[in-house]
Amino acid sequence: MGGLLNNFWKEIPDGAFALAPMEDVSDTVFRELILSVSDPGKLNLLFTEFTSTDGLCHPQGYKAVAHRLKVNQSELDIIREQNVKLIVQIWGNDPEKFFKAAKTISEEYQFDGIDVNMGCPVNKVVRQNSCSALIGQPSLALEIIKATIEGSGMPVSVKTRTGIKEHQTQIWIETLLESGLSAITLHARTRKMMSLFPAEWQQVRIAATVIQSLKPDVKLIGNGDVLSYQQGLELAASTGANAIMVGRGIFANPWFFADDRERDVPEKLDLLKRHITLFCLTWANTRNFGILKRFFKIYIHGFQGAVALRAKLMETNNPEEALSVIKDFELSLGNAD
Ligand SMILES: Cc1cc2nc3c(=O)[nH]c(=O)nc-3n(C[C@H](O)[C@H](O)[C@H](O)COP(=O)(O)O)c2cc1C
Repeated sequence: MGGLLNNFWKEIPDGAFALAPMEDVSDTVFRELILSVSDPGKLNLLFTEFTSTDGLCHPQGYKAVAHRLKVNQSELDIIREQNVKLIVQIWGNDPEKFFKAAKTISEEYQFDGIDVNMGCPVNKVVRQNSCSALIGQPSLALEIIKATIEGSGMPVSVKTRTGIKEHQTQIWIETLLESGLSAITLHARTRKMMSLFPAEWQQVRIAATVIQSLKPDVKLIGNGDVLSYQQGLELAASTGANAIMVGRGIFANPWFFADDRERDVPEKLDLLKRHITLFCLTWANTRNFGILKRFFKIYIHGFQGAVALRAKLMETNNPEEALSVIKDFELSLGNAD
């Protein structure tokens, strides 16, 4: 690790926050939108959706996955302005493909770091011996991390869980620390727990103790069920995690990384309109409008008429229809411009 140039992890302050990698959610559009309503300094790390190394290493597959690596210039501008770090997450099970994918990423993209997914519990990837299945294959996991570091020369992190059926946090973290990685995100659940049971943050404390005694330079990011900025800070302080990762908490409150003020209806509608517009500008006809629909609830909740408005929006077939439904609602409020 000492030999890596630009190892930004060393400068990440304690109490930093990350927006989680989330498939079909944390694309360049959503990341920019969230960053744009966050207070500078409160959101420090962004992760892309996970991208398959098989896809990245195959000419046809590359076309199918390339959108996951897209970064709009407008996102990049805010990232650079606020000194936020952008990390691309990849997954797979073949060290050679990790090497190749990492090389491509370092040569052709502007990410600050690479994250290896060793946590996803869904059958689709576990059947392919990837993601959380790597917890049960420590030597392969180590080979993969080393290949990613060698292929890219970039700082490499791992996002993982505490075990497969039972917590095995201590031994698993000890293993990961042999690889030369720079940071570990620990989602405080086993694979078996999926997201069905509460995260067990005492496992993050165990990980912090192991890291402190073996490789204190390696950063630890705790993850699981964090629903407010303040709660995140308290969990970091009580467990010894350096940073906190937030996933579904952003669905309950897109202003998670701003002040606690309750947002009024025009602000919520405005953010949704910006999301729809940026989605169209970015993806034009290349991505399905249906992907946008899952975001409606994030903005359209907690006010009078929200349920009916959401139902109408869910019936729309394209961005223009959605914007027109919002406009009608604004007119009914007397807020249209
Ligand atoms: C819709 C969705 C998509 C996700 N996609 C990914 C992914 O691509 N890579 C990953 O490491 N984790 C993924 N996750 C897991 C989250 O990053 C996070 O670990 C998990 O949601 C627990 O954090 P939370 O309780 O703050 O949501 C996803 C979660 C959700 C809800």
